[in-house]
Amino acid sequence: MSAAKRHFFICTNRRPPVSPKPSCAPNGSEDVLFALREEREKRGLSADILITATACLGPCPSAGATVVVYPEGVWYSNVTVDDVTELVESHMIEGKPVERLRDPLYS
Ligand code: FES
Repeated sequence: MSAAKRHFFICTNRRPPVSPKPSCAPNGSEDVLFALREEREKRGLSADILITATACLGPCPSAGATVVVYPEGVWYSNVTVDDVTELVESHMIEGKPVERLRDPLYS
């Protein structure tokens, strides 16, 4: 068994509605997680790409999800399902981060 080439971490944290701080699950992060996994399967990348749901990663964007990709250590914020195809084709397959989605404070 060979090591995976890349590991995607997607925050699926959900805070109570009364919390003043936003969280990723109400912003659709579970849809991002499922769409990434579906694309990975469709493209036959299961042996090369790991995808893991996580608790809060820190940035807590007000829209979309936080996604972190290793080994590059790239942090994305405000990721939605509309961004998944570009993330897959650019970063998952080609290894090129999607600059417009990078978190300016964490990357
Ligand atoms: S709740 Fe997702 S990064 Fe904090």
